[in-house]
Order: sequence, then structure tokens, then C-alpha cells
Amino acid sequence: MKLSIKHSEAGKFEETRFEKIHNVIFDNSNIGSLIVAKEIADLIRSKKKEGKKCVLGLATGSSPIKVYEELVRMHKEEGLSFKNVITFNLDEYYPMEKNNPQSYWYFMHEHLFNHVDILPENINIPDGTIPEEEIQQYCIDYEFKIKAAGGLDFQLLGIGRTGHIGFNEPGSHFNSGTRNITLDHITRIDAAPAFLGIENVPRVAITMGIGTIRKAKRIVLLAWGINKAQVVKEAIEGEVTSDIPASYLQRHDNVTFVLDSGASKELTRIKTPWLVTSCGWSDELTIKGAVWLSQLKKKSILKLTDEDYNNNGMADLLIKHDSAYNMNIKIFNHLQHTITGWPGGKPNADDTNRPERKDPSRKRVIIFSPHPDDDVISMGGTFDRLVEQGHDVHIVYQTSGNIAVADTEAMKFAEVALLLGGDHSAAKKIIKDLKKKKEFDVDSLEVRQLKAMIRRKEARGATRYLGVPDEKVFFLNMPFYETGRTIKDKISEADIGLVTDIITKIKPHQIYAAGDLADPHGTHKVCLDAIFASLDKLKNKKFMDDCWVWLYRGAWHEWEIHEIEMAVPMSPDQVKKKRQAIFFHQSQKDGVLFQGDDSREFWMRAEDRNKETAHKYNDLGLADYAALEAFKRYHFK
Ligand code: F6R
Repeated sequence: MKLSIKHSEAGKFEETRFEKIHNVIFDNSNIGSLIVAKEIADLIRSKKKEGKKCVLGLATGSSPIKVYEELVRMHKEEGLSFKNVITFNLDEYYPMEKNNPQSYWYFMHEHLFNHVDILPENINIPDGTIPEEEIQQYCIDYEFKIKAAGGLDFQLLGIGRTGHIGFNEPGSHFNSGTRNITLDHITRIDAAPAFLGIENVPRVAITMGIGTIRKAKRIVLLAWGINKAQVVKEAIEGEVTSDIPASYLQRHDNVTFVLDSGASKELTRIKTPWLVTSCGWSDELTIKGAVWLSQLKKKSILKLTDEDYNNNGMADLLIKHDSAYNMNIKIFNHLQHTITGWPGGKPNADDTNRPERKDPSRKRVIIFSPHPDDDVISMGGTFDRLVEQGHDVHIVYQTSGNIAVADTEAMKFAEVALLLGGDHSAAKKIIKDLKKKKEFDVDSLEVRQLKAMIRRKEARGATRYLGVPDEKVFFLNMPFYETGRTIKDKISEADIGLVTDIITKIKPHQIYAAGDLADPHGTHKVCLDAIFASLDKLKNKKFMDDCWVWLYRGAWHEWEIHEIEMAVPMSPDQVKKKRQAIFFHQSQKDGVLFQGDDSREFWMRAEDRNKETAHKYNDLGLADYAALEAFKRYHFK
């Protein structure tokens, strides 16, 4: 791991003819964040030594949260002082009150300013409350203020999926200054969960310009997660264009992009390293290369020729395997062996080349589901097979999922409850709470409980339909999730303890978990972290010697073909059965709160995705199935 990300100190980064911006890649966002925080802290300290102010340009959003957390830690534990620091934030929504929890003013105070000794007069955040007619002058003054402070010594950035930096959306000019700007639709979609619906997301923001950002002496841009991979590639490898404002940073001579493995996935040197340099061909890379070549040439694996490999940067791979013929057969067999209709292992069969062991023939299985529907959305077909093949299947819902239930849905159930006999006090209170609820209000405890109950009963409907008895269905209600807001608490021992307890109780031979890393700050990631932490705690227990962990992907992404270690086929009837199981989650149908920019309902996404995997297998020359669910094994020892 590089201890410095500084342009000058990092040595020659693996520059390729494709990359035009210095970048470093870390295994995960936590490590990257700590290193960026250290660079900022070093700068603050060195400026202090020189008796100078340190002028920082700061960003909001999910990307810098861990950086701020680490700076706060350094302040508290290492005495890092912010007394010589002047900050200028990149942007603010307009109009926006400071005390609105969605404001960037609120964000910065919650994550940084309230916890360090910065002088309030040194904090500058564009003001979302100034009258419209004063915005222009306000922006000119903001620019002057930065200049008067001596200019930005360091600018921290995130990147939006539109390629925006600050809120400089596509179309922004290279020399633009601080100004108001209309937000792109995709930016508003990405902000929608925090605002509980796109209609609540402001349309306008005040942002520093590209010209303002470019004047910073040093720029560090953070990008985490697969969702950013495409835009990161375009910014680093594409032409400088106003369509991707972050590409303007190619013209700055002291900028570093700090990436995690997800965000780096589309870079040529990561995605197709054979096009960049000679590579050490691991087994996984070999499969990745062959699958890529097969897709490029639109030929099945067994039809790839020596010439195909030689002409596409894989001559060294060919030498390693003697001939395309030998290599193709190995790769074909590997892919073939990932397919099994027996996800719990096939009893009494030779399992040398099967993804799962045959013994014990009846396995205890835990399917962890972050929300009360990921189990059926992501692995409904496999779930069904495991039950049908007689395994002892337990379903564990990690969070209540209450935040994704609309108020109208809760109102409907409360009103139905009113129609029933008995004491109506709870239903009456819920109806009253919902009626007086204002935009951005957090639901009352009772409303949240009702919303959780709705999801719980929907989940029960689906598990009963697939044949799992109620006593094998568990709801952990992990506390980190129960904030009533989209911003969740940090994972704690209480969360991990719940997961550890259930694994200890069931002593599973198989664990299925959502390895969905698209959003590094989303619920799936926290739920997965809790499982990983539990596995780490339990790994020396005897019963864990027999436990295999399989990761599925959530509603947003699928494993890439070369990553898949188990592919479970579904017949057309099984596809329908899975659809039916998803339908039990009625509160998550049509126009759900957290749909993202994909307007398809969850069952459609799941079907499209499973069909696509089947097509990909078929195009590689393997059997033609209606649908395939895919898994990757996680080795915890
Ligand atoms: C925030 C800002 C934006 C974000 C970008 C990424 O002050 O100016 O450019 O950095 O939208 O947001 P996250 O980090 O939430 O993915």
C-alpha cells in the first residue's frame, strides 16, 4: 500500500497511455480515506509551523464522510488543531435553510465543524438563503473571499455520476466561477433518497466554478463504489470535455484521484490489463480475458483461435497454455463446472467438479437478507431449490426496512386496523401522527413500528409461499438502521452481536449473504460488514470448519462472469415462481421510495438480470437456460 498519495511522492504511478490523471487505488474506501485525512492533517500542521493559515476547499456527500471522521479523531486524540484553518465549501442547494438536515451547512457541522476547534468566522459555505437577486453579487464576493484568504491550498472533491465536481454539471465552462446552476436530472435522482423523493430535491444550487476549483494548489478527488466506475474512467481516460466536467482536471498539474477497487473497475488497466502491459495471468484473470475476448469477437469460447488471442494483447497467455485449443477447453470446463441445479450440493454424486460439497446431504442454511425482500429478489430461485431439495433453510432479515414504506401505505393499514374490534388507540395515534407529519419529519416510533410490521408480514407471505416455516424466519432489526432517516448510525457491537448470535445458534453449513458493494455507504454494505465481522469472530469455532459462504448481488448489479463460482439455473416455471414470491412485497411495488434511476420494478430487474446472465453463458457456448442466479464464494479463513 502506498503511504502517500501525493503526486510528487508517489513515484511513477502506473501511468498508461490511457490515463491522463494521476490516480491511486485502494482495496476499500476506509483505507483511502485515512490516507487523504493524513495528507490534510500534514498540510494543516506544516502551515501552522510556518505561522500561516491553511485554506481548505471542502466537499459534502457520502464520499468524504470517513475523511472527516478521521480528522475529528486526530483532533480529539492527537491534538490536531483547526485554529489556523479557513474553509470554503464547494456548494449548497438553493433555496436551502441552514438547519434543514439536507443542507450542506448541516452536513458540515454534523460531520466536522461541531467536533473540531475551527473558528466559526473561518467557515465559509455558500448561503442557500440569500434573496435571488443578490446571488450574483454574493458569488462574486465568495470568489474574492477565497482570493483574499490566499487561495485554496487544498481542494477535496467527490464526483457525481454526471461527472460533476462541486455542482458543475455537464456544460459547465472551463473558466466558470462561483454561480448558481440548475442540477442535472441524474444528480437529483441520486439525491432523492435523502430527500425522500425526487420531487423534494431542489432544482438549483450555488457552486464554486471549475475555474475556482482549478486554482487550488492541490486537488484530491474521492470516488468509491462501482456506481462511479464509468464516470471515473471517462474523466481519467477520455477527452477533456464539458460533458464530463471532472475531465477538466486533466489540465491541473497537482491532482490525484483516490479510488477504491469498485470505482477503478472500468479503468483500462484494471478491466483489460492485457491491453496495457504484459500481465501475470492468474486463473481469474485468464477467465476474465477469455470471456472478454469471446464477447469482443462474438464467438463462443471453444471457437476462439490463436490469432484472436495474439491480436488482442494475449500472446503471453497463449504461450503459457501452448495453444488456444488447450486453453479454450480449460476455460470452457471451468465455466461449465460453475453451473449446478444443486446449490446445496448433490447427494451421492461425485462432487470433485461441483461448486458445493455433497456432504452433509441435508445442510443447515442461513440466507441473510439486508432488507425484507433481497432474499427473493436476488436468489429466489436458489432459495426455492434449497427448500425443495430438503435443506434446513433459515431466513434472517437483517434490517426492518421500515424507511422504504410510504406513508400512504402505513395509513392504509392503520385505517384497516381501525375497522377491527378492540382497542384502537395505537391505530388512532398512527393516523394522527401521519396526518400531522411534515416534509422531512422523522416518523414517530409507532409509525416506524407499523411500517416494519408491514414489511415483516410481506416477508412472511413470501417465505411461507416458498415453504419455510415461520419459526425458521428471523428479524434482527439491526439497530444501526433504526434512525427513521436515510442517514444511518454507524455499525456497532450490538449489530454485529445479533448476527454472531444467530450464526452460533444455527451453526450453518451454508451462509448466503448480499455481497452488494455498489454503494459503499448503503445498507447492504453495513449488513455485509456485520457478517464479515461475525465470521471473523467465529472463525476458530469448530462448527465453522464446515461453513461455506456464498455471496449474491442485490438489486443493482450482478457478478461479472469471471467472478461467478456457482450459477444456479432456473426453468421458465421457476422464474414465474420467483416472480410470485417477489410480489408478496407489495409495499415495494411501483414508484417505491428508493427505486434509483431504474424505473423497472424489482421483479423485472431481477428477471432481466437473471436472463442476461443466462444469455451470457449461452453466448460463451454453454447450455441455453431461461435464467441463472449467480454466486461468488467468500473465504473467511
Ligand atoms: C458535494 C459536491 C458533489 C459531490 C458528488 C458526489 O459538495 O459538490 O460534487 O461530491 O455529487 O457525491 P457522493 O459523494 O455523495 O457520491
